[in-house]
Amino acid sequence: MYTTILTELNNHIFTITINRPDKLNALNKAVFDDLNKALDEVYTNDEILSAVITGAGTKAFVAGADITEFKGLSVEEGKALAKAGQDTFFRIENCPKPIIAAVNGFALGGGCELAMSCHFRVAANNAKFGQPEVNLGLIPGYGGTQRLVQLIGKGRAIELLISGNMIDTTTALQYGLVNHVFEPEQLLPETYKLLANINTKAPLAIGACISAVNAAFDEARDGYAVEIDAFGFCFATDDMQEGTQAFIEKRKPVFSGK
Ligand code: COA
Repeated sequence: MYTTILTELNNHIFTITINRPDKLNALNKAVFDDLNKALDEVYTNDEILSAVITGAGTKAFVAGADITEFKGLSVEEGKALAKAGQDTFFRIENCPKPIIAAVNGFALGGGCELAMSCHFRVAANNAKFGQPEVNLGLIPGYGGTQRLVQLIGKGRAIELLISGNMIDTTTALQYGLVNHVFEPEQLLPETYKLLANINTKAPLAIGACISAVNAAFDEARDGYAVEIDAFGFCFATDDMQEGTQAFIEKRKPVFSGK
């Protein structure tokens, strides 16, 4: 079904592994097609409660968009490429199920942008982050200029963007670009532990949290109003009844996602 990614579903966690290790998992058109199909699965398969995106091999998460596909593009084709990449990454960002980037090496250019479109990032201690597009006479096109500012602030974002410098996980932690750093062999087990806990929470409430947080960065929406609507919506869910009843009965809730 897939040619450039591997997928696996275990304990309601769907792992998507970008699988072009000989090209440091660079994002070409085939990867985007596969990623979109995998996102269809995440959105529609009720067995999936959350997802992880990682890279094959030990060297790279994703070392960027595939530079070989840039040659000879016109202005309009360049814009279409950016638009398509942004659309895919919006699907990740707006997914009601948590999607976590497990960054296992270089996360450069489109790789850093992919990681930033995920709901949060964890990294192996050998990971490196950067937006080196200026080295190519380019800028990020898959949302990087926007999400970098949201995640680390304007001054740090501009420095990274215009220097093309890479940062290590010590700096990424300090900047708030990653939430946790692990030994490389512990990266996936620890990511799964984080998600196993999250997967015990009410799925519709999780989706509502994601939607309300995303509204904080969307000028077209009033995030406070989105929060009011989402809060009200929860009162109509079985899970809210179950969660509050379980608290009163001093037992663990069992959520149905309804
Ligand atoms: N697009 C296409 N191919 C890429 C790539 C990318 N973004 N990043 C790496 N590759 C390929 C290399 O061309 C090489 O292929 P080859 O073996 O057929 O020559 C292979 O992956 C291994 O990369 P290599 O450069 O030999 O590894 P390295 O350890 O010397 O360097 C990096 C690692 C990440 C520093 C280097 O690959 C790099 O700078 N990549 C581009 C990063 C970038 O500019 N990303 C933004 C793109 S918009």
